[in-house]
Amino acid sequence: MRRVRIEDLLTDSVCRKHLPRAGVDHSIRVAEIAVDLAEQMGVDPDKAAKAGLLHDIGHGDFTVDGRWNYELYSRGDIHPIKGAERAHELMVLKGEDPEVAREIAFAILFHSGSNAIRPVGDRTPLQALVAMADDGDEEELGQHHLRQIDWAAAVERVRALDRRIDDLLARRNQA
Ligand SMILES: [Fe+2]
Ligand SMILES: [Fe+2]
Repeated sequence: MRRVRIEDLLTDSVCRKHLPRAGVDHSIRVAEIAVDLAEQMGVDPDKAAKAGLLHDIGHGDFTVDGRWNYELYSRGDIHPIKGAERAHELMVLKGEDPEVAREIAFAILFHSGSNAIRPVGDRTPLQALVAMADDGDEEELGQHHLRQIDWAAAVERVRALDRRIDDLLARRNQA
């Protein structure tokens, strides 16, 4: 039984405030790719989707004149650290299992190649999966952060993702 759904996270004021900086469309797309990869890799699709949706929730604003500025970003960015903490707080607030919230927070902490903090030893499958899902939605010059999506369409996309996760988990429980 899932304690928290992806829709519960997306529609919370914390996501509504912070996700637009890295892009709501990018966040949802990474959650969708994460579920595809979870299916292939045998990883929990619920954890994969949550880590995917929230992986960039720690972003600051690195746009100048409406364009992503990589110099500002590389000098000032700490989004994996801030995102891990912010996502953890949101998930716990929503009622997530603390052990699950921690696992997802660590996957967010280690998702970025430009992060100075690295895991001790190899990345776990969930940590590797989130980094791969993020790479799968990268566009040149940070354009993936700037793609726009209508709010109603965003909610529809995560509802469909929640249904897909329910189906995958139900199938896994039957096996
Ligand atoms: Fe990121
Ligand atoms: Fe990202």
